[in-house]
Amino acid sequence: MAKINENFIKIPATYLFSEIAKRVTQHKEENPTAPIIRMGIGDVSLPLPDAAVDAMIKAADEQRDASSFRGYGPEQGYAFLREAIAENDYVSKGIQIDIDEVFVSDGAKSDTGNIGDIFDVSNRVAITDPSYPVYVDTNAMGGRAGEPTASGEWTNLVYLSCNAENNFVPALPTEKVDLVYLCYPNNPTGTTLTKEQLTVWVEYAKANKVILLFDAAYEAFITEDNVPRSIYEIDGAKDVAIEFRSFSKTAGFTGTRCGYTVVPKQLMGYSENGEQVSLNKLWNRRQCTKFNGTSYVVQRAAEATYSLEGKKQVKKLIEFYTENARIIRQGLLKAGYTIFGGVNAPYVWAKAPVGQTSWEYFDYLLKEKNIVTTPGAGFGASGEGYVRFSAFGSREATIEAMQRLEK
Ligand code: MLT
Repeated sequence: MAKINENFIKIPATYLFSEIAKRVTQHKEENPTAPIIRMGIGDVSLPLPDAAVDAMIKAADEQRDASSFRGYGPEQGYAFLREAIAENDYVSKGIQIDIDEVFVSDGAKSDTGNIGDIFDVSNRVAITDPSYPVYVDTNAMGGRAGEPTASGEWTNLVYLSCNAENNFVPALPTEKVDLVYLCYPNNPTGTTLTKEQLTVWVEYAKANKVILLFDAAYEAFITEDNVPRSIYEIDGAKDVAIEFRSFSKTAGFTGTRCGYTVVPKQLMGYSENGEQVSLNKLWNRRQCTKFNGTSYVVQRAAEATYSLEGKKQVKKLIEFYTENARIIRQGLLKAGYTIFGGVNAPYVWAKAPVGQTSWEYFDYLLKEKNIVTTPGAGFGASGEGYVRFSAFGSREATIEAMQRLEK
């Protein structure tokens, strides 16, 4: 008799974005001509940059010929991409990252979900609330979250509430924790931490032997000074932090799939008997066993985003979505909403009208305005009473959605 992993029974039956897709499909079936505007999941609408497509075509062509054909690649990623990442995202910005600290993957979702493999089940995990649901769900699947309570929270997780009252800046945990997930610019609230605020976290992690799991998937959208793009901009962060990055939102790779994780060689965890163990070595071991590398063709596409042309094209994409975020902010303010985020991030976090839960308001926007958002409660208890608007749609749809809301 094959026994299942009981933790899967404890988690909600559907993943947040699958539940939203289900409701949208049902609405579409009941109203086939409804002019639906999708501002829910953060999926991009603009095509891939030409530099990436050209690189893919060239790489695919190499696969025709035995002399240039590539079979299994390195599990950690090809050196050409790891070098481009280390040089362009770190070294040229004054941060020393070696190529063997960079692990290429098929995206930050996989890496933030899989990272738990290298940590003991007894670790106490703190998660900012609201947060990207992958952090909570994967800790629950791994048995680290305890039991779900009636309110949907988990008994063993420590929730760091981020709300309008604390200006979306999480307070340090008041109880002992071992791992902390931080995502900045934040998904879902679109808010950020300043350099000083992130320094507080790095110092806390150092003093308390805590590992920070820093999701920087949205760093390209930062427009303001004094907002760190990488946690390694903070002194000492290489001793305490793993950083996750993605080509999805920066270069439109949501369907193409490529991301990477930086695990510094000096970053240590502890064995049962208190000995220091390199987390870089453990992650390398995990990847070699469970992952066979991102496809060669996709890695060439990712590399091309760092070429001169590639950088220009990526910049244009980011500027486009940033302008969408501005239009959303302006439209929602005009329509009387209380909003947050959207300045350094492609998400705008809006308060639902008083008395409405976020799922009720999600349903209202879907059925009455044909606008798909993401209900804040899907990101955690502190997201209740909010909905998230994504800026990744087309310009026409973004403007049209704001006109519908202003009416
Ligand atoms: C989101 O909408 O929060 C993201 O697109 C989800 C993801 O990146 O997997």
